[in-house]
Amino acid sequence: MPANTTPLHWHKIAESLLEIERVKGNPWQVRIAGRDICVVVHNGKAFGCAARCPHAGGNMAQGRVNDLGQIACPLHQYRFDLRTGCNISGEGYFLKCYPVEENDDGVFVGL
Ligand code: FES
Repeated sequence: MPANTTPLHWHKIAESLLEIERVKGNPWQVRIAGRDICVVVHNGKAFGCAARCPHAGGNMAQGRVNDLGQIACPLHQYRFDLRTGCNISGEGYFLKCYPVEENDDGVFVGL
C-alpha cells in the first residue's frame, strides 16, 4: 500500500513556543479547522495530539506530561507517547498525533 502523500495544511497557532508556555497554557487546547487539538511544549519542542482521549474522551489538555514526554489522560491515567501516540501504559489505544513546527513566522500545526 502506498504511503499517505496527502500534503499537510499548516495552521498558525501562536507567535512562539514561549507564548504557548507562558500565555496559552501547557498543555493547551486549541480548535483548528473544526478539530480540537492538544498542544504540549516539552523540553523545547512542541507536540500536537487529539484533545479527546481515544479511551473514553478525557480531555488531554487537562492531562499531565512526565519527564519522558508522555501525557497521561486525566480520567483513567492511560499514558501516551507524545511523539508517536503509542499507548505506553499498555491498554491498546492509539492517540492521534499532529506535527507542530516553530519557525521565524510562528508556531504551526499540520493537519
Ligand atoms: S478516558 Fe482517557 S484513559 Fe480513560
